[in-house]
Amino acid sequence: MFVNKQAIEERAFGLTRAGQAVSLFTLRNKQGLSLGVTNYGGTVTSLQIPDRNGRFDNVVLAYDSLQQYESSEAYFGALVGRFANRIAAGRFSLDGQDYQLAVNQSPNHLHGGERGFDKVIWKAIAEQTARGPSLLLNYHSRGGEEGYPGTLNVHVRYTLGEDNSLVIDYQAECDRATPVNLTHHSYFNLSGDPGRDVLRHQLEINADYYTPVDRNLVPTGEIAPVGASPLDFRRPLPIGGRIDSNHEQMVIAGGYDHNYVLNGDGAGEATFAARVSEPESGRVMEVHTTEPGMQFYSGNFLADYGPRCGFCLETQHFPDSPNQPGFPSTILRPGQAFRSQTIHSFSTLID
Ligand code: BGC
Repeated sequence: MFVNKQAIEERAFGLTRAGQAVSLFTLRNKQGLSLGVTNYGGTVTSLQIPDRNGRFDNVVLAYDSLQQYESSEAYFGALVGRFANRIAAGRFSLDGQDYQLAVNQSPNHLHGGERGFDKVIWKAIAEQTARGPSLLLNYHSRGGEEGYPGTLNVHVRYTLGEDNSLVIDYQAECDRATPVNLTHHSYFNLSGDPGRDVLRHQLEINADYYTPVDRNLVPTGEIAPVGASPLDFRRPLPIGGRIDSNHEQMVIAGGYDHNYVLNGDGAGEATFAARVSEPESGRVMEVHTTEPGMQFYSGNFLADYGPRCGFCLETQHFPDSPNQPGFPSTILRPGQAFRSQTIHSFSTLID
């Protein structure tokens, strides 16, 4: 028990290139788990979780300095918006008007543009809640920012639950109709050693379908069954087992970089999306979400630690939804409240 430590601490994390002061918050629960979050990008910089022998390690990929977060394009631990994932050619039309967003990963708009929610400073309030210590972040996105229509006021709360969970609650409202898709982009490595690849992690994904992509990693619009393909994780299997398969989808993405259509019930409560376990450390992470989709990214393009040294499970609406009438809508309108919740629960394998 870490009774002598404060549940929430704040310290200086440095100055951005533009000279703005940024903080690093540390949240601790009574089991000794800790979560580091900076209000630069709402970024998770550390998540200390015990293994089966009670040894604590950081299970997310991170940088040491604010400057590295500012220059990186890997979205380590970040909050991603206004629209997570890709919008083809950065274009969409809404209510009869055409919009052109920043094309920051040619030929597409990716993760909110040149300066998405991962590269801005959020207002932060540390609060103790019934569930555990939390950090409430707020960002006011101006109309026209990165080409998006209207203002979007976003609140995200990270809570480190006393039940060893990391809960992420999103809320947003707008003053003009706009696409919204928010996610969190931690790269997990449950071994606690970021220099090791994640290929032996066992992964289960609660999805019978996924959205196949074209050569630009944009969904074709098809909702395809995972059955009998390397994308099938309905039973737990090692991430690395089929990652180098010559299945067309795996070749296009250089591994896994696909949106799964979760078998959720759509009833509004977070439902089971994925379970990952790492055999040596015995660490287990379960993901529950209210979102209809989840991008499984196996870190194929990861330069900083090495390819496949971290995996992302980005709960989200489907990529390119503003151009895909067959996908669940991502359009938020004035007067509507955007709400979303994702829960990561940590435990260890029982021997
Ligand atoms: C995307 C990848 C991209 C990565 C980092 C993921 O969410 O699906 O294609 O390379 O983010 O930018």
